[in-house]
Amino acid sequence: MDYLEIIGGKRLSGAIDISGAKNAALPVIAATILSDRPVELTNLPDVVDIRTLLKLLDMLGSRVEHEGTVARIDNGPMTSTKAVYEIVSQMRASILVLGPLLTRFGECEVSLPGGCAIGQRPIDLHLKALEAMGAKIEIKGGYVRAEAPEGLRGAKIIFDKITVGGTENVLMAAAMAHGTTQIINAAREPEIVQLCDMLSAAGVKVEGTGMATLTVHGTGGQPLVWDQAVAIIPDRIEAGTYLCAGAITHSDITLNKVNIEHIQAMIDKLESMGCQFAIAEESITIHPPEVLRPVNIITAEYPGFPTDMQAQFMAVATLAEGESLIEERLFENRFMHVSELNRLGADIWLKGNTAAVKGVDALYGADVMATDLRASSALVLGALAAEGVTRVRRIYHLDRGYDDLEGKLATLGAAIERKKG
Ligand code: EPZ
Repeated sequence: MDYLEIIGGKRLSGAIDISGAKNAALPVIAATILSDRPVELTNLPDVVDIRTLLKLLDMLGSRVEHEGTVARIDNGPMTSTKAVYEIVSQMRASILVLGPLLTRFGECEVSLPGGCAIGQRPIDLHLKALEAMGAKIEIKGGYVRAEAPEGLRGAKIIFDKITVGGTENVLMAAAMAHGTTQIINAAREPEIVQLCDMLSAAGVKVEGTGMATLTVHGTGGQPLVWDQAVAIIPDRIEAGTYLCAGAITHSDITLNKVNIEHIQAMIDKLESMGCQFAIAEESITIHPPEVLRPVNIITAEYPGFPTDMQAQFMAVATLAEGESLIEERLFENRFMHVSELNRLGADIWLKGNTAAVKGVDALYGADVMATDLRASSALVLGALAAEGVTRVRRIYHLDRGYDDLEGKLATLGAAIERKKG
């Protein structure tokens, strides 16, 4: 199995481009199901999760041409509406096909995603919302079977809890429903804004884009048409991860093709740790200090501090001067990186959903194991700063969501190599 070998302690320098956002691209790909005509997507990141979802569409009978950052998807010939376990078990986000399949075809079966390394991650809110829109749903044999033979109808959906995937599924379902759907307590992540913009580009009337109340006027069963390509927004989590790479190695590095507004929460926290920034329209250069100050973080929904950056900031905090407190509010088990960072010599103490990170003078290379996508990137960050050699194993987690991680880090001057064994 591949692993990454990193010789730490090197200063980084130079510039890299940020790729398209995985978490924006996945719902965009799912939304193409709302059309029976070809749709072109550009600026896709080259990561395994994208290939997995495209493979699912291919299995459903769609025509998919995918080369590099561009995909042309024709869901006209789609013959099946069953998302099988083999795919869904590889990637939970496959649940995003539920809303669009149901609203376009009036029925579908999607395997239940099951457990996950970072928490239980139920889909009850997705199902409750679709039921409120008239779907008949049963769970049998590990599958969600949903039916709405007359099509879905608009409804008022109040989410008890803010859910990114739930908001996306309802937005897509509502786009072809009969009547108007109001989503209250909707997620406001940039990925949701991208999806709203994509629906609007196909002529669906969406009100409240970027706000906690969204109103969608459905087409009443009429499939959507996209005349223009949909360009995926920059990956704010990838950008945040590289800013952390600059901070932890005390290196000035530049990121191009970023959306500054989307990474403001990360910039604020790094500023409080003593980093300075030179910001242009779509690029950012970090100037970290020689000694980082500790930081207190509580994860929250956008525009708060993202849970997807919690592990990476914890890695940076291991080398700050003083104690940082990091509280995880979104997922109940998103601390798998703690014991692995401690293997590199970090001093992190976990109590409930809060980690107390006491800054140490140095980290030391060791063999460590990746457990989920962002935990893995935190280990890479630790390794970049650690003295000696670190081997990060189970890097298939990284390949799911970081486009050419080792290539980009090598461009910045890191000593990083993918090896077999
Ligand atoms: C999305 O997951 C992202 N995935 C996650 O990124 C991210 O961590 C998460 O949003 C939060 O920002 C994609 O966009 C593909 P949620 P999602 O529904 O949609 C609970 C990464 O590393 N909940 O907003 O699954 C849930 O358990 C990944 O790239 C219910 O209780 O997250 C969690 O505690 C990991 N019932 C909270 O809500 C439901 O029906 C937020 O989850 C749905 C969610």
